[in-house]
Amino acid sequence: MLELYWKNASDKVVGAEHGVSLAEMEELKLKLCKASQAVQKSLDSGQYGYADLPTHPTYPASVKALVEKYKPVTTDLVVLGIGGSALGNIALQSALNPATYNLMSDAKRPGPRLFVLDNVDPALISETLKVAMRRGGKGLLVNVISKSGETAETASQFMIVRDMLKKKLGDDFAKHIVATTDANKGTLHEIAKADGYDMLEVPDNVGGRFSVLSPVGLFSAAMCGIDIDELLAGAKAMRDRIELEHCMNPGCTLAAINYLMMTEKGKPIHVMMPYTNRLYMLADWYRQLWAESLGKQFDRDGNEVFAGATPVKALGTTDQHSQVQLYREGPNDKFTVFLEVKKHPKELRVPDEFADVPGLAYLRKAKMSKLMNAEKAATEYAMAASKRPSLTIKFPEINAHTVGEFIMLYEYATSIVGEMLNIDAYDQPAVELGKKATFALMGREGYGDMAAEMKSFFRRDKKYEAK
Ligand code: PA5
Repeated sequence: MLELYWKNASDKVVGAEHGVSLAEMEELKLKLCKASQAVQKSLDSGQYGYADLPTHPTYPASVKALVEKYKPVTTDLVVLGIGGSALGNIALQSALNPATYNLMSDAKRPGPRLFVLDNVDPALISETLKVAMRRGGKGLLVNVISKSGETAETASQFMIVRDMLKKKLGDDFAKHIVATTDANKGTLHEIAKADGYDMLEVPDNVGGRFSVLSPVGLFSAAMCGIDIDELLAGAKAMRDRIELEHCMNPGCTLAAINYLMMTEKGKPIHVMMPYTNRLYMLADWYRQLWAESLGKQFDRDGNEVFAGATPVKALGTTDQHSQVQLYREGPNDKFTVFLEVKKHPKELRVPDEFADVPGLAYLRKAKMSKLMNAEKAATEYAMAASKRPSLTIKFPEINAHTVGEFIMLYEYATSIVGEMLNIDAYDQPAVELGKKATFALMGREGYGDMAAEMKSFFRRDKKYEAK
């Protein structure tokens, strides 16, 4: 079970200006309970569906059926997607498989090599496809993921890959594509039907950034040997822990501390700092969840509120040599969540050498996990000494169960903070203008007026050129 410990975010440790007191938590309780109940209501009514995913009646089976079909004939899996249609896949893979996964031989690897293309960088795409197309594309499977089915980045990658597969494999190309998209409508859905791809569903009532436990994240995970039943069991365990005890649970505590940090303690920057490389991309997944869900100009009553906190990811111990100077002595505007691991997936000991070298002798025979966790504790201690608040989420181990717990914990906490801020945590209106402007710049039909309007914006003015 994940543990959450917030003493170092309290007034007792970092003082009343920067830390949350038990009295403040008590004062917030009514608002917190109301928010948690409102969230529960919206989940129970089916308005939002992420909490149902751990026990969904058909998704795991439909994913497993396709895994059974494709895994024996797939050496390389390329996922095409962006944002919520990619970050969860990357996070699961890097948390639950070794960093060297793609470097293992086909015989040793528990699944195909995995490449998640979540950008339109031409070099990245062409270099990756060149590597993934070995054996003339015969062992390649492409999982194109798009809820809307029209996202420019994913659509353009898909067009490239489909064309490539057609050229290499002729009529067989459709046997190498699985489309994860809306079950009934959308451009990708229509193409998939016409071309005859196998399809997986993106639930209607689950937004991209909340969709990792749906077929969006489950298919690539299961293909790569990740135990999706355990992942879902962990998410369910956290869901039960949160639902059963209402506002006395880790989801509410995490939401409450974050909310108070954001609104009362002058901490608009929220750092997530795992002390393990395995969880670094999970912090990336969190960044999207926190940023897109809570960063809102208007509340639900139409008042301009400019809500949100800027999520930042850092890596322990690496960023102790890069960021911690700023975190301790720069503006006291950050709240840090450390992710600590009790039992790491692998252990390593420093050899018993250099007994007579004072600068090295203390490291002899030390477990690397002990050094890692000592550095985490030391950073926490040093931050507290500078009145910098932090909270720790402790993973007893990194496995599918605890990662599932973590995902559900943060999804709930995001919903509850959104509710307390009285904002819509499930939309992302601010990304629309950029999407439309891209359409205009790329000459999409219907965007001519916008393209004309943008001309003056891009007119060069020599006064601003650096000489
Ligand atoms: O969280 C979100 O809703 C977004 O990040 C989307 O996942 C992202 O824009 C991709 O959208 P789609 O799956 O429709 O291609």
